[in-house]
Amino acid sequence: MNVDDLSGRWALVTGAASGIGRATALALARRGADLVICDIDEAGLDTVRGEIEALGRAVLARAVDVADREQMRAFAETVHAEIPAVDILVNNAGVAVSATFVDTTLEDWDWILGINLVGVIHGCHFFVPRMIERGAGGHVVNISSTAGYFAVGTMSAYSATKFAVRGMSEAMRGELAVHGIGVTAVCPGIIDTPIVGKMRVRGGDEQENRRLAVQAFSRRAYSPERLAQGILKAIRKNKVVAPITPEARLFWWIVRWCPWLAHWMNRRGSARVAREAEEAERVAG
Ligand SMILES: NC(=O)c1ccc[n+]([C@@H]2O[C@H](COP(=O)([O-])OP(=O)(O)OC[C@H]3O[C@@H](n4cnc5c(N)ncnc54)[C@H](O)[C@@H]3O)[C@@H](O)[C@H]2O)c1
Repeated sequence: MNVDDLSGRWALVTGAASGIGRATALALARRGADLVICDIDEAGLDTVRGEIEALGRAVLARAVDVADREQMRAFAETVHAEIPAVDILVNNAGVAVSATFVDTTLEDWDWILGINLVGVIHGCHFFVPRMIERGAGGHVVNISSTAGYFAVGTMSAYSATKFAVRGMSEAMRGELAVHGIGVTAVCPGIIDTPIVGKMRVRGGDEQENRRLAVQAFSRRAYSPERLAQGILKAIRKNKVVAPITPEARLFWWIVRWCPWLAHWMNRRGSARVAREAEEAERVAG
């Protein structure tokens, strides 16, 4: 799909109030697209709506929980009352859990599956059929992650959702190709967004683990704006899987060509986490 000039096109981005969603919505608006955006963060959404309007683009913004089937159904009805179909659908809204499998509660599983996986299913279920019906092609971007192919300890719940999103995207890609609709699973590495500050952390010294994660993400300093340019490129090239940062590309190479190294790294990392948790417990008393 040509993304150099998106005038007259409509793009939908979920989770657009912050981070990658915000940066992608603005990047699409700068290329001329009009935007449909949603998020549960109403204040953040309002700010992004203003930023898109300041670029001279039309914007339809709604407070919507992607995990909620009825809210997503109503959202789609509102959108399709205005336009026949969106041209670009970006299922981006997501959250993270940092915990070993044993420490992950069933409520954590419900929470993360609801947003990261069912949210993407809802986006595709309620918006793709109208893209097909309209018959003018388009593109679906589902935000997976490096954790969607490189599995590491303390991220089993997050990885489960991101592997699933990648698998679903690849399956859909075959089905939608005949309708001229591309599908890409975007797999970012470490992007400096507020996601780790908000993630659920279980086990060990939770405050310290969050602080270290926030510090690591901020030190990596790969901006969501830079990632958004990678997303536009992936749409243009109609990539199946788009590992965008250098570490994302390195791990994509490792899992395909050196899977034993991936398993070794996972075991080593998990052993370190177990040691640190033991130490935190000892210090706590
Ligand atoms: N930041 C990274 O390093 C990174 C790496 C790989 C993948 N990702 C993925 O990128 C996506 C965006 O993450 P981000 O880093 O920009 O995080 P972020 O926290 O900055 O943005 C996520 C947005 O999703 C919204 N959201 C959360 N739950 C929602 C719900 N139920 N309904 C609607 N909106 C909801 C949040 O309010 C927030 O505005 C996520 O799917 C995440 O898993 C992020």
